[in-house]
Amino acid sequence: MEDKQVLTVTPDVHWVGVLDPDLIRFDVVMETKFGTTYNSYFIDADKKALVDTVKEPFWPVFLEKLKQLTDPAEIQYIIVNHTEPDHSGCLPQMLKAAPNATVVGSGNAVRYLRDQLGVEFSHLIVKDGDKLSLGNKTLTFIGAPNLHWPDTIFTWLEEDKLLFTCDAFGCHFSHPVMFDDTVGDFSEAFTFYFNVILKPYSKFVVKAIAKIASLPVYAICTGHGPILRKDWKKYVDLSGQLAAAALELPKKNRVLIAYVSAYRNTASMAERIADGIREAGAGLEVDMFDMEGVPMAEVERRVEEAGAVIVGSPIINQNILLQVYQLFAIMNPIRDRGKLAGAFGSYGWSAEFMKSMETNLLNLKLNFIDKGVFVRFTPHENELRECLLYGQLFGEKMLEEMAKCAG
Ligand SMILES: Cc1cc2nc3c(=O)[nH]c(=O)nc-3n(C[C@H](O)[C@H](O)[C@H](O)COP(=O)(O)O)c2cc1C
Ligand SMILES: [Fe+2]
Ligand SMILES: [Fe+2]
Repeated sequence: MEDKQVLTVTPDVHWVGVLDPDLIRFDVVMETKFGTTYNSYFIDADKKALVDTVKEPFWPVFLEKLKQLTDPAEIQYIIVNHTEPDHSGCLPQMLKAAPNATVVGSGNAVRYLRDQLGVEFSHLIVKDGDKLSLGNKTLTFIGAPNLHWPDTIFTWLEEDKLLFTCDAFGCHFSHPVMFDDTVGDFSEAFTFYFNVILKPYSKFVVKAIAKIASLPVYAICTGHGPILRKDWKKYVDLSGQLAAAALELPKKNRVLIAYVSAYRNTASMAERIADGIREAGAGLEVDMFDMEGVPMAEVERRVEEAGAVIVGSPIINQNILLQVYQLFAIMNPIRDRGKLAGAFGSYGWSAEFMKSMETNLLNLKLNFIDKGVFVRFTPHENELRECLLYGQLFGEKMLEEMAKCAG
């Protein structure tokens, strides 16, 4: 079906976004089982305004849609709630089609757009609480930084009681009818989107929700997926609950020991390190597992829950193994900064690469303690004792960290 439709949100506000039902993966990192939409809204006020644009390849269909409602040259303001190119990608063409338009965004948004566009453009920097009159309608801007880039704002259209939130409260879910009460169940997509895109910024989700709590909202106009006109409160509350649950993590007393092992040498070391940690304190929990064959989403869930991480790998062909690199790829300093970290493994003749586990953990801003424990081939009594002592030392450090937090 050709995507030509525009939708009426309120008599003067229209959805002019585009559907991308066949998208398989978003931003490289995120599967999109239900496709997505890039939502843009046209406000037909005395001074015409557009809220966000769409991803660049969709420019022709986006322009067609806009032309159904207005002469694009008459648009006076383009509100940029967030500058990620899935929303700002059509801005260069849009500025040509609307040569008198002023781009409205946060200071960060304007800075990022300068780099993205490579040319100067007419702009208005807005701060939290600033208002902009469109003649018969008024916009108020609400700072919502780090949802999920530092540039993010929400835009409140007072007369129509519409809140434009871009990525917040959105999800990757494509359905031509676009409204939460008509698209069917999209809860799986909603929670998945929250978990991948917003959860690392849960602290900021909670702050943003507090700012909008008292607004007499009619609908939340999201940047992806359904427009929330019926159950917007349910999705705001759910986001708040998911954020609050995320802020409970990680469990400071839990250590993840994640390893791979071809001949169980590294595995035996893992077991002794775990024993040492348990000996250090009865309150310490060890989550130990072999990563081979375990889906990365599962590994990530376990990283998220752990207050400390110890990584183990053997050396194969002068390198540590793919699963260990994948583990490093799913870790990030936003969530994992400061967690206690350690490394261990077995090698045959070239130990030098073992050091790269330490380097990776340090680059990820974890708190790498001691120097790790590495054994040539099979760990026997002495080496296993070394592992036990390493575990005890690690456990003691965990207890110290926990005492610091409690104190
Ligand atoms: C296919 C293969 C390649 C290996 N390449 C290296 C190597 O380049 N350097 C090295 O120090 N050890 C190498 N080893 C030896 C292993 O690191 C050693 O056997 C280690 O004890 C395996 O630990 P694991 O039982 O935890 O897998 C290799 C072993 C295998 C099976
Ligand atoms: Fe984004
Ligand atoms: Fe987005």
